[in-house]
Amino acid sequence: MLGTAWRKLLEAKDIPYRTAALPEFDITDPNAIKKFVTPGIGVVINCCAYTNVDGAEESEDMATLVNGTGVGYLSEACCQAQALLVHYSTDYVFNGNASEPYKVDGPIEPCNAYGRSKAEGEREIRDHDCQYLILRTSWLYAPWANNFVLTIAKLAKEKESLQVVDDQRGRPTSAEHLAAASLKLIEEGARGTLHVTDGGECTWYDFAKVIAEHANPACKVEPCGSEQYPRPAVRPAYSVLDLGPTEAIIGEMPSWQTNLNNVLNQIGHKEAQEV
Ligand SMILES: NC(=O)c1ccc[n+]([C@@H]2O[C@H](COP(=O)([O-])OP(=O)(O)OC[C@H]3O[C@@H](n4cnc5c(N)ncnc54)[C@H](OP(=O)(O)O)[C@@H]3O)[C@@H](O)[C@H]2O)c1
Repeated sequence: MLGTAWRKLLEAKDIPYRTAALPEFDITDPNAIKKFVTPGIGVVINCCAYTNVDGAEESEDMATLVNGTGVGYLSEACCQAQALLVHYSTDYVFNGNASEPYKVDGPIEPCNAYGRSKAEGEREIRDHDCQYLILRTSWLYAPWANNFVLTIAKLAKEKESLQVVDDQRGRPTSAEHLAAASLKLIEEGARGTLHVTDGGECTWYDFAKVIAEHANPACKVEPCGSEQYPRPAVRPAYSVLDLGPTEAIIGEMPSWQTNLNNVLNQIGHKEAQEV
C-alpha cells in the first residue's frame, strides 16, 4: 500500500528512484540487499514488512525475521553505503492503554506479536546508528490494495447494515499523505523517530460511518464492542500518536476527514471510469 503511494509521488515529482521487491529483493537475505543498496544511493525508503497482524501471533518467528532481523540487515547495508534509511513503524509498539497521545519517546511496550517484531526493527536501526528516520504510523488506507476504507465501502454497498467497533480510538493515515509528509521530512533534514498520521482522532466506528455515508447512505452503521469480533491479536484501545514534533517541522497534518474525502473521491472517480 505505502510502496505504491511512494512510487506515484516520486513519479509526479520527477524524482529519480529505483524499486526493489520480492523475489529479487528479500529483506531477510543480506546478499540480495547488497545488490540494491550500493554506494551513491542517497535514501533508502523501506516500505516492506510482514504486516499480517493476526498471522504474526502464530508466525512470530517469521514476523521477527522480516520486521526485525531483516531491518537489521538493511540498516547494515545503509551504514556501509552511507545512505539515509527511512523506515516505517507502528502504533502497536505501545501498550494501547494510554489516555493521551503517545509521545515519540514514550515507553516501548508492544501490545501484540506484530508490535514486538516492529519494535525489534526499531531497535536494530538505532543499534546500527546509521542515518535514519523512523516514522511510526497507524491505520493506513489508500485507494488501492486491501484496507479498511475499501472493505467498508464494498460492504456498505452489499449490506443494509454494518457493525463496527467503537472502543478502539486512533488516527487513520492516508498512505498518500504519509508518503508526501515523509518526503517533506526528508527534505527538511529530519532524523530520528517521528510520528506521521492524519490529524484528528476517531474510533473505527466514526471512520466507517463517513466511508459508508459516501459509498451508500442507505447502509446503517452501528457501534459495537471489540468483544463481538474476537481476533487472535490484541488491538490497542487507544493508539493516538503524538504529532507535535512532526508538525513543528512540516506544519499541521490535514484532518482524517480531509484525507479520507480525497481518497473516497479517487475511488468514486475510478469506479465511474470502470462503468
Ligand atoms: N497497514 C497499516 O495499517 C500500517 C499501520 C502501521 C504501520 N504500518 C507499517 O507501514 C509500512 C507499510 O505498510 P503497508 O500496509 O503499505 O504494507 P503492505 O501493503 O502489506 O506491503 C508490505 C510489502 O512488503 C513485502 N514484503 C513482505 N516480506 C518481504 C520480504 N521478506 N522481503 C521483501 N519484501 C517483503 C510484501 O510483498 P508481498 O506482497 O509480495 O508479500 C508487500 O509488498 C510497514 O512497515 C508497516 O509495518 C502499516
